[in-house]
Amino acid sequence: MVGLGMIFRETYLPVFENALRSPRISLEGEPYQVEWMGAVSRTGKSHAEMESRFKVPCFAGNDGLDRLLALKPDVLCVATPDDAHFAPIMQGLDAGCHILVEKPSLLSLEQTDQILERSIEAQKLVRVVYHKLADPDHKRLRTLVADGVLNHVNSGYCTLLEPKSIGMSTFAAWIEGRNPATYVAVHYFKLIDFTFGGATVNPAMRLKKVEATGQKGQVSRDPATWDSVQSRLTYAYPDGSEAVFDIHTSWVHPDNFPGYVDQEVQFRFHNGVWNASQRKRGIELVVEGRTPTELKTNINNHYNATTLDPWGSKRARGYGLEVIERFFDETAHVLWDGDQGSSPQRLETIRGLAYADLGADRSVIAMVEATEAILAASAAGQRGGVVEVNGPQGGLVLKFPGTSQSRVLYAKTV
Ligand SMILES: NC(=O)c1ccc[n+]([C@@H]2O[C@H](COP(=O)([O-])OP(=O)(O)OC[C@H]3O[C@@H](n4cnc5c(N)ncnc54)[C@H](OP(=O)(O)O)[C@@H]3O)[C@@H](O)[C@H]2O)c1
Repeated sequence: MVGLGMIFRETYLPVFENALRSPRISLEGEPYQVEWMGAVSRTGKSHAEMESRFKVPCFAGNDGLDRLLALKPDVLCVATPDDAHFAPIMQGLDAGCHILVEKPSLLSLEQTDQILERSIEAQKLVRVVYHKLADPDHKRLRTLVADGVLNHVNSGYCTLLEPKSIGMSTFAAWIEGRNPATYVAVHYFKLIDFTFGGATVNPAMRLKKVEATGQKGQVSRDPATWDSVQSRLTYAYPDGSEAVFDIHTSWVHPDNFPGYVDQEVQFRFHNGVWNASQRKRGIELVVEGRTPTELKTNINNHYNATTLDPWGSKRARGYGLEVIERFFDETAHVLWDGDQGSSPQRLETIRGLAYADLGADRSVIAMVEATEAILAASAAGQRGGVVEVNGPQGGLVLKFPGTSQSRVLYAKTV
């Protein structure tokens, strides 16, 4: 485990706790054991707790990851800050690990090409955690689209606003120069791309244009650090008609908001509408003196809730854990569901499951790279940038409407 921060505590830790209680079952029904072998973090501030609760060695410092990899784990899970995924993934591949990385997988297509090349040489998986794809509401949306009940998406609006405590405290160590779109809009970039962009529907829409703007000044005085971002994705259908999606994100929402985050998605189709107010999932909880700060009024019981089963057991469950557990099941399939000689075929089968495959994440990485470039230009005083995707000048080209200026961010096809 690389990184022992917020997402580690919310999702990986309960997965490891559950794994201590019972073996998991591989995709072909064979029991296998997930054993947490060790961790590395930047400062080591949570090491004493992890070492005493789980008896795992934890490392920090420049050689921390070398020391962890010397233990020869089969898999490496990477949950470091958004701009610190590339180096541990590459080091993990070099050490022979299958990789699970938090979203946003990588910040540029150039980095992605390098990692993909190395993963193919090393015959290892690189999978990305997109837990919102496993949210039961989003799965139901995708089912209705795949079954042809909802036809031809035309537009959409998604929002996810994180509390100020995230921007100003949890992420204080790495907020400078960062933006909340790379951090959370990426969930909706993936949801849109995976649901409508070709994996599910035919004829597929293709990403055509990315735009972004935002506001600054609360989380940092650094002009390159953003409080909130509004992104727009334009896709084109084969007949040239467009579908447009607006995605609003921030990390400066009031801490006393009744839900943990303020989130909502809306999609409009030729023949229907999907409106999911995910800030209120049907529950209102009020506890004197505890809601809505320590406990939330509108709670999401589908993510990682710990529940007491009627038969007496108590454990955490939800889509936040499910995608990580699924990664272990997929890796166990590659490693052990058959002989060594047929492992490459099993690897290809898992790579074909596009929802988490790094190779299938290229459009989303393009959206992230485009957003970062537009925001960087805007912070430097050049506002209104638009990134054209797979146009005549290259795969990703940053343009400034009304001027002849343009910059190729990525020359090859996205
Ligand atoms: N799937 C989701 O919905 C979701 C939700 C939240 C976050 N995430 C993603 O998960 C990643 C981590 O986010 P977080 O919320 O956990 O952040 P966080 O709370 O700030 O934790 C970051 C962790 O990474 C460690 N770290 C920082 N630089 C490192 C380095 N160079 N080498 C090794 N460890 C390093 C930090 O060490 P110290 O403990 O010593 O500071 C800390 O343990 C981000 O990419 C984020 O976007 C995903």
